[in-house]
Parts: sequence; structure tokens; C-alpha cells
Amino acid sequence: MARHSPSSLLTWLLFLLHGQFPPANQPYRTSYHFQPLQNWMNDPNGPMIYKGIYHLFYQYNPYGAVWSANIVWAHSTSTDLINWIPHSHAIYPSQPSDINGCWSGSATILPGGEPLILYTGINQKNQEVQNLAMPKNLSDPYLVEWTKSAKNPLMAPDNTDNINASSFRDPTTAWLGPDGKWRVIIGSEIGSSGMAVLYWSKDFIQWTKAQHSLHSAEDTGMWECPDFYPVSGTGADGLDTSTIGPGVKHVLKVSLFDTKHDHYIVGTYDIVKDVFIPDKGSEEYKSWLRYDYGKYYASKTFFDGAKNRRVLWAWINESTDATIDVKKGWSGIQGIPRQIWLDRSGKQLVQWPVEEIEKLRMNQVDLPGRLLKGGSMVEVSGVTAAQADVEIEFEIPELEKADFLDPNWSDPQAICRQKGAPVRGGFGPFGLLVLASKDLQEHTSVFFRVFRHHDKNKFAVLMCSDQSRSSLLLDYDKTTFGAFVDVDPTREKLSLRSLIDHSIVESFGAGGKACISARVYPSLAVDGNAHLYAFNNGTQSVRVSKLRAWSMKKAQINYANERANY
Ligand code: FRU
Repeated sequence: MARHSPSSLLTWLLFLLHGQFPPANQPYRTSYHFQPLQNWMNDPNGPMIYKGIYHLFYQYNPYGAVWSANIVWAHSTSTDLINWIPHSHAIYPSQPSDINGCWSGSATILPGGEPLILYTGINQKNQEVQNLAMPKNLSDPYLVEWTKSAKNPLMAPDNTDNINASSFRDPTTAWLGPDGKWRVIIGSEIGSSGMAVLYWSKDFIQWTKAQHSLHSAEDTGMWECPDFYPVSGTGADGLDTSTIGPGVKHVLKVSLFDTKHDHYIVGTYDIVKDVFIPDKGSEEYKSWLRYDYGKYYASKTFFDGAKNRRVLWAWINESTDATIDVKKGWSGIQGIPRQIWLDRSGKQLVQWPVEEIEKLRMNQVDLPGRLLKGGSMVEVSGVTAAQADVEIEFEIPELEKADFLDPNWSDPQAICRQKGAPVRGGFGPFGLLVLASKDLQEHTSVFFRVFRHHDKNKFAVLMCSDQSRSSLLLDYDKTTFGAFVDVDPTREKLSLRSLIDHSIVESFGAGGKACISARVYPSLAVDGNAHLYAFNNGTQSVRVSKLRAWSMKKAQINYANERANY
């Protein structure tokens, strides 16, 4: 029989009786993931650093917990990417070119340091057009007030191209070529081909559409929120968006409207032809990689010159349906900002939570290395398990005992779905049980399985996040997620880090080579009733060589004097 704490029972009773969570008792609000005080949030917009202050704008509906077209750019600032102060809305419908909504866009820092924003406006005819906004007062590091160009819209679909006015949005950060021309891409589709429409400008005001796109791909549908940036071939340092040259590769990321996933391609940028050329093997959409194999969408990076790194933001939406979101009064969080760089292999990106998040760690708990026998588990006590950061490392002895990988299994998510945490294999499932109730009736399992390829002495490592038993009371999308991790278990330990924050589990496999974010809404494993375990449900033993966990402090996110001018 499940043991409900009096407080979680009361919360649920109030929820069921009155259709609303009591305001002081919001079990699913996060403590260190970015979210507004209330209402709907989607895409991160125009992230940047200006005069030492980090800015995050985001798509926000001031009127409720569901998306609405006449959305605004809400605005918060921070000195550390963790604690955030809210400001008044930066950009909101006010002129014919955006009167029906201010949709996503990006910031560009001009060579003199002045930031500009290009964003999509929904005009009086409900068409998607591109607009420019600039700070009213450059000496204000908080950039609270923004003005719009009188020349707006600067880019609009015209009759000479086939671009549909409802598929033309989300300008990227612009980059400057050696010829002194700015370039920007806009997400679009023609027929069923997704496309990055390319524009040029000498002055950021007059934009000319190129005859060709920067890149396009058949059968990918609408490309939302494209992102295009250089990465260094030689380390984790980030590069300014206009950087080109030897040793520099480029990444094109697109958010596919049809799949609601963020996919990226590593390749090269041909500045003469002004086209992006995917590396061999990643021409086909089916081979594109994902930033995150769970919930993670409409992401955007920016170059942080203060720390020479590229930082990635993304919207992580709810897994509940809108009626629940309306009852709790809010919807949507942002993932923890991640540093992102090109892996040594040159084939994929690596992501890791920005180092500042470690300031929130307290009460470190270390469990001594140990053998975790097949069918056993160990509790990590002494941390606030609903608000924690945990790192674990596994070593796998006698890999030759691994199960063979069925050559027909090519879809990692399908394997994870078929072989959830209760299904015993040889090596795996082993990993973490997070947001678990004492009796384990509720838990989310994040784990690995190691398989051996039939023909060669090679191994495949699968990472899964299984939400199927994450809540007893609430019905929501509990899809299981999965990814193959490009790591060789004969040479490297298998590491897993999970950031647990009440209703989100953001997990990083193999030092950030595969990431999975999941939303869960436990009814028992809430606050002080949540537990954390390391487990091994395989038949073979694995060695835990490191297990370190921290309670996480609550960050100051958007509390103070929220003001709105819309
Ligand atoms: C992506 C998106 C963008 C659009 C914005 C509107 O989530 O659909 O394409 O600009 O959201 O809120």
C-alpha cells in the first residue's frame, strides 16, 4: 500500500476537488530551472551577454497557461545564468508588422558591441515577416527598453518566391562575411522540403534574399528556429558566430515542426557559395543527430565572450495536457543552459551543464566504490532527492558476457520502450532510480544497457529514460526515451549525470555525448518523500567506481517585482 504524506494527499485532494493546486503548494514547479512566475512559456529568444549581463528573452503569454498567437518577448537578466531578475516585456505587438504576435528570433552583437534583435512579427494580414528591434539606451546594461525600426518589416515573403507566408519565421543570429555583408537565415519549407532561407545585408536594414538557400532537405517539413554557428575542431572553446577559417566546422540545427525534435548536422560552411555542406554520412535526415533524445525544442545558442564558450538554451514543455496546465497556472520550463562543443571525433557535439550550476550544490554525499550485483540497489541518502544533482560512473568487467545486439534493432527508443527498467538483460539495465517513492511504486529510471555486436568485438551502449512508472495518480505522456551513446566501454567508464528538479530529470550520458530530458509528475515522490537509488537489474554485476550526489539550493528565478507593460 502506498504511503502518502499528509501534505501530498492534501495537495491532491485540493486539486481533485477544486480543480486547482493550492498556490503555496505547487509540487511541480522547479527550483533551479528557469521559468516565469506563472503562465505559458515556450522558445528561448535572443540569448546574449551584454556588458557582463546575461539576457534571456522568451516567448510568453501574459494572459494564461496555454500558447496564444499574440505572444510577447518576456525578458530576464542574470550575472551567472542561474539566478534571474525579471524585467518588463521587451517586445510586444505594437506596430502593423507585429500586431498579431511577436514570435521567435535572435540577437546579433555588432562589431562595436551594439546588440540588435531580429524577430518574426505576425502582421495585420496574419503573415510572418521579419522585424528589427534595437535598445533604447545602450548605457543600460539591462537593456530594459527596446524600440522597433520604422522600416519594419525588413523581410517579407513576396510573389516572386514560393514561400508561404505562414512558413517563414525565426531569424538566426546574423554573421558577418569577410566581404562586409551580413547573412541571416529564416526557417521555412517549400512543398515538404524544409529550408533555411538566406538573406544578405550591408547595413542590417536593407535585406536581399539570395537565390539559393543556405541548406534544405527533402521530406523534413517546416524548419522552425534554425541555428547556425561555428565550432572549433580542437577543443571546448566557443567561437564568435562570424568566425570562419581553417580548423573551424559549422553546425546547422533545425527544430522540426513535424517531429517536435531538435536535430543538428555537422559540416562545413562554404563562404564563397554561401552554402552549408553536411559532412559525409549526415546528408540524409535519418542520420541527423539530436541535442537531446527526450523533450527539448526550439533551442538556441549564443557565444559567451566572457567565458569563451557557446551556450545552449532550449524549451522543455510539459507532458501534461492543457487542462492540467491551466489548473496549475503555468506551462513550460527552460533546460539548464549547456556549454556545447564539437567532440574530438568531429562527428558529434558534446553538451554539459554550465559550470555555474555547481554553485547550487550543497551537502555532498559520496558513496564508496562498490560492486553492484545483478538484481541489487543502493539508496543514496542524505540529499534532497527531489532537488539534486547526481553523478555516477560504472565499470563493466567481463564484457564478453554482454547480450548480443539484434541486428534488426536500429531504433534506440524502441529498444528502450520494449526493454524498460524491469526487463533484465546481461549488462543492464543499470543506472539511477530518481524521484522514487520509498516503496518504489513511483520512480523514473535512467539507465544503460550494453550489447555486443554479432560480427565484431564491438559494443553498443544504449541509454534510456523510462517514465512509465513515474506517477500513480496523474495521467500524462509517459513515453520512454532512448539513444545510443558513442562510447567504447572497453576503454572508458560509463558515466551518467542527472539534474533532478521536482518535475524534470535532465540526464547526460558519457560526459554529455547523449542527453535525455524527461518531465514527470509524481504524486508520492514529492519533496521530502522523494528517494534516490543506484540500481542494477541486469544478471551480471557492474562496478560503481564513483557515486556523488548533492542537494541543490533553490535559485532566485524571477521572483522580485515582476512588472509587465503589456
Ligand atoms: C517554435 C515556434 C516558432 C515560433 C514560436 C511562436 O516553438 O513555433 O516557430 O516563432 O514558436 O511562439
